[in-house]
Amino acid sequence: MTAEFPVARPRRLRRTAPLRRMVAGTRLHPAELILPLFVKEGIAEPNPVGSMPGVMQHTRDSLRKAAHEAAEAGVGGLILFGIPLHKDGRGSAADDPDGIVQLALADLAAEVGDALVLIADTCLDEYTDHGHCGLLTATGEVDNDATLERYAAAAVAQARAGAQVIAPSGMMDGQVAAIRTALDADGFAEIPILAYSAKFASGFYGPFREAAECAPQFGDRNAYQQDPAGPIGESLREIRLDLDEGADAVMVKPALAYLDILRQVRDMVDVPVAAYQVSGEYAMVEAAAANGWIDRDRVIMESLIAIRRAGADLILTYWATEIARRLA
Ligand code: PBG
Repeated sequence: MTAEFPVARPRRLRRTAPLRRMVAGTRLHPAELILPLFVKEGIAEPNPVGSMPGVMQHTRDSLRKAAHEAAEAGVGGLILFGIPLHKDGRGSAADDPDGIVQLALADLAAEVGDALVLIADTCLDEYTDHGHCGLLTATGEVDNDATLERYAAAAVAQARAGAQVIAPSGMMDGQVAAIRTALDADGFAEIPILAYSAKFASGFYGPFREAAECAPQFGDRNAYQQDPAGPIGESLREIRLDLDEGADAVMVKPALAYLDILRQVRDMVDVPVAAYQVSGEYAMVEAAAANGWIDRDRVIMESLIAIRRAGADLILTYWATEIARRLA
C-alpha cells in the first residue's frame, strides 16, 4: 500500500498573513464599537478606577477630552454613566435637568454630537442611596411599576439634554414601553431605544460597581436580573417582549460568558444586536496581563472577535478607543 496524502488541506488558506486576511470571516470595525464613560459630579481631577486600570471617573472636562479622542479614533458611540454627589431613595438626580448626566450630555451633544452617537444608560442604581435599580417597597423589594415612572422621567430628561439613544438597563418588566410612551409624548418619537434585554445577574459587574459607585447596600439584583442558570429560552422571551414594546436594538450582557445566548438572539431577531463586554471581563484581562500571564493585546482582540463571531453587531467595550486606533 502506498501512503495516502490528504487532498483536502485546510492549512492552505492559513499559510500566509495576506491569505488569512483575505479569507477572514469575522472583521471588526471602529464604528461598531461603543465606549462606556463615567462622569462624576464634584471632582476637580479625573479619578482612576482601581479595579479597571486605564478607566476613569471623569470630570466634565476630562469627559469631553475622552469623547473627542473616541470620535477621532472613529468609535461608533459613547454610553454615559453618571455619579451624582447626592443620592436619595428615589434617585432624584436621574431626572434633574441639572443632574450630572444631563449636564455632561449637553456638553457632549455640543461638541461631538455629530461625530458619534450619544447613548444614555437609563437606570436608577447610580442615583439611589440604597444602590438598587428601582424604587423600594416598605419591605425592601424593588417596586416594578413605580420604578417605570422614574425610568420614563429619566429618559425624557436625558433626551432633552441631548441623548440620541436611550438604553434602559434596569430589567424592570415593561420598561421599554414606559420609556417609549414618555419619549413620544415629549416629542422624541425619533429617538431609538437600545434595550438591555437579556441582562444577567453577574459577578462580572464587580468593578463597575466601584466605577459607578452603585453596589446595592443590601441584598442583590437576583430578583430582577436574569439567573445565569435560568429557564432555557428566557432571554429570547425577554428580547421578544422588548421588541413588542418598541425596542429598536437589543443587548446581551455580559458578553463572553453568554456567547450562546448572543448567537440565539442574533438568529432570532431582525434588529441590531449589541453585546456588553463588561467591567469584570476587562479587569480580568488587565490583571492577568499586568502579571505577565497573558498577552494583553492578543487576548483583547481574540475576545472581541469571539463576541463578533457569536453574533454581535455592536460591542460595548472599555477598550473601544484603543481598539479603534489599532484597527485604523
Ligand atoms: C446598571 C448597569 C450595570 C452595568 C451597566 N449598567 C451594573 C449592574 O447591573 O449592576 C454593568 C456594566 C459593567 O460591569 O461593565 N445601571
